[in-house]
Amino acid sequence: MKLIVDFANLGQIKELYAYYPLDGVTTNPAILAKEGRNPYEVLKEIREFIGAEAELHVQVISLDAESMIQEAHKIQAELGAATYVKIPVTREGLKAIKTLAAENAKITATAVYNPMQAYLAGKAGANYAAPYVNRIDNLGADGVKVAKEIHDIFKKNDLKTEVLAASFKNSQQVLELAKYGVGAATISPDVMEGLIKLDSVTCAVAAFVKDFEKLCGEGKTML
Ligand code: E4P
Repeated sequence: MKLIVDFANLGQIKELYAYYPLDGVTTNPAILAKEGRNPYEVLKEIREFIGAEAELHVQVISLDAESMIQEAHKIQAELGAATYVKIPVTREGLKAIKTLAAENAKITATAVYNPMQAYLAGKAGANYAAPYVNRIDNLGADGVKVAKEIHDIFKKNDLKTEVLAASFKNSQQVLELAKYGVGAATISPDVMEGLIKLDSVTCAVAAFVKDFEKLCGEGKTML
């Protein structure tokens, strides 16, 4: 499973890249709005940092297919052909996905709340479909289960589309999908930091240090 960070602040992205084995960056309009400056300026800095071939996902804003397609062309012209254009899976979105897939553009079908949306997006040629795990949970359904069902639908129908699970609120949701082998998960910095925060690990490591210091003296290491 690829691990992607869902954020647009370059400083924090750099910090996370220094610590975690990351495969790319996803953004959405709400995430870009938090940066408070020209979105292309922000995205170009991210692209430069992660490299020309790394995964960068950028969402269109328009609601009709023709304008979505125009936005997709602009996004890829500005940020490179390796950029995944995120297209919400609406009726218009499906039309845009079909057209862009025929042009071999990289596409992430987004705002996926149910398996049928994902199936249609996959059949239309999207590379990824992004089920919103936590938002689905908030509707009283089971987001992890929906993401697993979508993964199975893609495999059983010989579609090359992968799940890019999104909208996580805790590490357990991420772990469940890693165990299932879905294609990718995109995670906010908060949830990312929570993946490795375990009191028992901190205690175990502190006890090892204490024992070693008894042997060699305070502050000593294997150096
Ligand atoms: C992914 O495509 C979405 O932009 C994102 O993960 C939504 O996350 P949220 O539900 O935490 O806003």
